[in-house]
Amino acid sequence: MIRSVLTGTGSALPARRVANAELAEQVDTSDEWIVERTGIRFRHIAAPGETTATLGADAARAAIAAAGVEATDIDLIVLATATPDQTFPASATKVQALLGIDDCVAFDVNAVCSGFLYAVQVADSMLRTGVHRRALVIGSETFSRILDWEDRGTCVLFGDGAGAVVLEAQESDADSGRGILVTKLHADGRHNDLLYVDGGPSTTGTVGKLRMKGREVFRHAVVNLASVMDESLALVGMTSADIDWLVPHQANARILDATARKLGLSPDKVVVTVDQHANTSAASVPLALDVAVRDGRIKKGHIVVLEAMGGGFTWGAAVLRF
Ligand code: UT7
Repeated sequence: MIRSVLTGTGSALPARRVANAELAEQVDTSDEWIVERTGIRFRHIAAPGETTATLGADAARAAIAAAGVEATDIDLIVLATATPDQTFPASATKVQALLGIDDCVAFDVNAVCSGFLYAVQVADSMLRTGVHRRALVIGSETFSRILDWEDRGTCVLFGDGAGAVVLEAQESDADSGRGILVTKLHADGRHNDLLYVDGGPSTTGTVGKLRMKGREVFRHAVVNLASVMDESLALVGMTSADIDWLVPHQANARILDATARKLGLSPDKVVVTVDQHANTSAASVPLALDVAVRDGRIKKGHIVVLEAMGGGFTWGAAVLRF
């Protein structure tokens, strides 16, 4: 059967790394509070000129190199972001231009923190139809630009960055072959008001700032993430015992612990980067994936589960054989 096989990963972070202590000089917070409630120690913040598209292109170059292909071999770019460079054109087309790809299909997907999972499902579907052969799937964000830097309840939680993967349509053994085995997505728009940006081109005509009722988002996240992982594993006849690595959305270390506990998964099978990157929204899953691939933890043949939950609410999971 034809599956989308992950042949390369890459990531990019802005050079500027900001420790909790630096934020404590700007708002009424402390390193102790942030570490205890979130597990976050550092986040990277984009400099002027560093954008969702430039970070996305840097991550894409690394993924293309890891896959051992040329940029011009890519025929599809799906970029997940809630912080595009401009309202339009799609940042995916800016990445395309930065990579020097003359012609391919390129567009953005916005499902906020679940955006990478949504983008993976879209690309996987397009690859399996046989119309496309090699896709770049990117999660890239510059949330620092939509944070209210006077709101301690949100400004300490997020960071900037990008992650990318190359997915290739390949013949794959039905039982033991590599590739994406399943993706499962959800959305529930009744919760729009728990995590949103208070602006936009069609409402205020401004970019707006991020607003979040953190405690309520937290509660929904643990329930929805455990549920969608169970659902995805069941669809491929697996249980949590089959998982080699869980690469979760990196929002809060306590959410990671709680969902792993609900799944009965040992914490040493969970890839954690929230301490170093904070919450990078759609970039967090591919960033964490790239870290664990490059440091040798995730190896060919491993069963890897990806999951994320974000504004909307949207949430989803994917099971793949790496
Ligand atoms: O990526 C999309 C998904 N997003 C998430 O998953 C985020 C989910 N939510 C969370 O991670 C947590 O709810 C937070 C980290 C946002 C907050 O943690 P919490 O344990 O739920 O704290 P809280 O919001 O209930 O606030 C507890 C206290 C409050 O003070 P009072 O009212 O008890 O006096 C806050 O004002 O902590 C206060 N507080 C802070 N204190 C110091 C809130 N932010 C800060 C801060 N520093 N930065």
